[in-house]
Amino acid sequence: MSEITLVNGKKLTVAETAGFCYGVKRAVDMAYEASKRYERIYSLGPIIHNASVVGDLEKRGVRVIEDASCVKEGDAVIIRSHGASKEEYAELKRLGAVIIDTTCPNVKHIHRLAEECSGRGERILVAGDKDHPEVKGILSYIDDGEVFADCEELLKLLRKSCEKFKKTIAILSQTTYNIELWERCIQTAQQYDNVKIYNTVCNATSKRQAEAAELSLRCDTMLIIGGRNSSNTAKLRDICSKNARCFLIENSSELENIDFSHTRYLGISAGASTPAHIIEEVQKTMTENLINEEEFNFEEAIEQSLKKVYTGKRVSGVVTSVNNTEVIVDIGTKHTGYIPMSELSNDPNAKPQDVVKVGDEIDVIVTKVNDVEGIVNLSKKQVDAQKGYEEVKKAFEEGTALEGVVSSVIKGGVIVVTQGMRVFVPASQTGVRLGGDLNALLKTTVKFKIIELNEARKRAVGSIRKVAAEERAVKKAQFFETAEAGQTVTGEVKSITDYGVFVDIGGVDGLIRRMDLTWGRIKHPSDVVSVGESIEVIIKDIDKETGKVSLSYKKPSDNPWLIFENNYSVGQVVEAKIVSITSFGAFAQIIPGIDGLIHISQIADQRVNNVADFLTVGQTVTAKITECDLENKRVSLSIRALLSSEASESEDSAPSEE
Ligand code: F3S
Repeated sequence: MSEITLVNGKKLTVAETAGFCYGVKRAVDMAYEASKRYERIYSLGPIIHNASVVGDLEKRGVRVIEDASCVKEGDAVIIRSHGASKEEYAELKRLGAVIIDTTCPNVKHIHRLAEECSGRGERILVAGDKDHPEVKGILSYIDDGEVFADCEELLKLLRKSCEKFKKTIAILSQTTYNIELWERCIQTAQQYDNVKIYNTVCNATSKRQAEAAELSLRCDTMLIIGGRNSSNTAKLRDICSKNARCFLIENSSELENIDFSHTRYLGISAGASTPAHIIEEVQKTMTENLINEEEFNFEEAIEQSLKKVYTGKRVSGVVTSVNNTEVIVDIGTKHTGYIPMSELSNDPNAKPQDVVKVGDEIDVIVTKVNDVEGIVNLSKKQVDAQKGYEEVKKAFEEGTALEGVVSSVIKGGVIVVTQGMRVFVPASQTGVRLGGDLNALLKTTVKFKIIELNEARKRAVGSIRKVAAEERAVKKAQFFETAEAGQTVTGEVKSITDYGVFVDIGGVDGLIRRMDLTWGRIKHPSDVVSVGESIEVIIKDIDKETGKVSLSYKKPSDNPWLIFENNYSVGQVVEAKIVSITSFGAFAQIIPGIDGLIHISQIADQRVNNVADFLTVGQTVTAKITECDLENKRVSLSIRALLSSEASESEDSAPSEE
């Protein structure tokens, strides 16, 4: 944008995108070129919505016709940038006319798309103005289709189409369709499964609309220059009048009818058919006008602006009442200001009492004025969305994280509302495992980063996973800086495998090998811990280069050999449980982790050929510790030793036969 600050401090900005788009410039250039070559030359409809260009071409012999009835063989006929219908092309060919086809390539693309979809037997819904020549042209390439003007009409058509026709539905748009409206239509259409959406809003149009919207937010007055019958010019006016006082003019001669006495910041944009010299003329006239205006009276301007309310005006007010269906706001005029629930917050779950309270000073946008009843409808949601967008844009540019509440789960992801703005987070960026339930995130507060921002459409895509990954990376770096082998840390069991357990110990996943889980024997690691459990572990080893960390769940103080050494000795009699039987004897557990061997020769006081004839797994036996090799971790037990001592004791105690 080119901004000029005038000597009295007032500002005038002309939008960069004002004026001829690529398609219109191409069409006008082609028309001038053709006017030099053909004697009899017509334009099927005015080449653009601008009387001065059309008049100038007429002086060069280009006559505007509404149909081909006067065309003779060899005459040249210009098809303008909107394109024409199939029937019109056919008729011109039949008449032997030379066709100068200036149809914009973007419009041609829609024709091809419509023809392809139609060829596949699809039903086609076109967003646009059904009376516009471009839309009429598109419809001629469609066998089964209808036009819709807005979301409500689209919804009706979708319902009807889904009930009546079992066809795939293709949705496309007129090139100059309002981009915000198109976004809303897409959201509506996405609720249906058999719908394919083709965004055919022209990039030049969306850029022009976005720039005008942005400019109008900073200006108190906007001038939109263009033909009154130009649909793209009318859309610019509609967009800008939501934010500022807005006037549609065709040229500088209309400026004298407008009161600019309170204008401090003037913005100028223009439709796609407006020639540069008209924009320059308006800019020049306005520069002179603004400089010559009476000294600006700021207080008076404030007073005036307080008194005047109009649709699209942003005003400040004080909340005077809050109930479950609406909020009443005093905006400093005689009107009663209402914010209906639907316009209060972008969070569908928010209660009015959570959003505002009596006495709050808030900014709102006027959405409707009813002077007869003294009522104005207001929207806080729109102001929040504007502010929210600025915050989101800043966060995107600076790479900072935002916080928001997950308001809904939609197809392919979730919607997070942050400062009144809705941000889409695709399922893959939520951090929920593939196939996991996204509903678990509903109504939770999440941190996320913006990974994609479409300024023209004011849409943002976020990632919760990115923030989590970055936080994890920071924690990981901190861990490797401070952690040492031997430290005890707390972690959460993330996964269990046959060979061990992975534990998140704060940004790092460490592994407890199976042998480091317990001192005793286990069938599987899942017998000891479960996923999600919080456990204390000891860091055994850290490899900072590979980032691998070995952990131990078993504590040195629980070492059964230490316990055994402190509590048992050779000669001691113990109760032990048979845990396994082999050909050479049986193992019996003295305490968990310590199994002693009862050799086959030590099972009974007679010859034992088969251990299983004397002992069974699970049986508790009384045995004597006969040997203890702590170094090699071996303990020997004997049942027989007790039987022989019992026998000798009974022999010793038997009465003698003297
Ligand atoms: Fe073509 Fe887009 Fe202009 S469709 S005519 S470049 S507005």
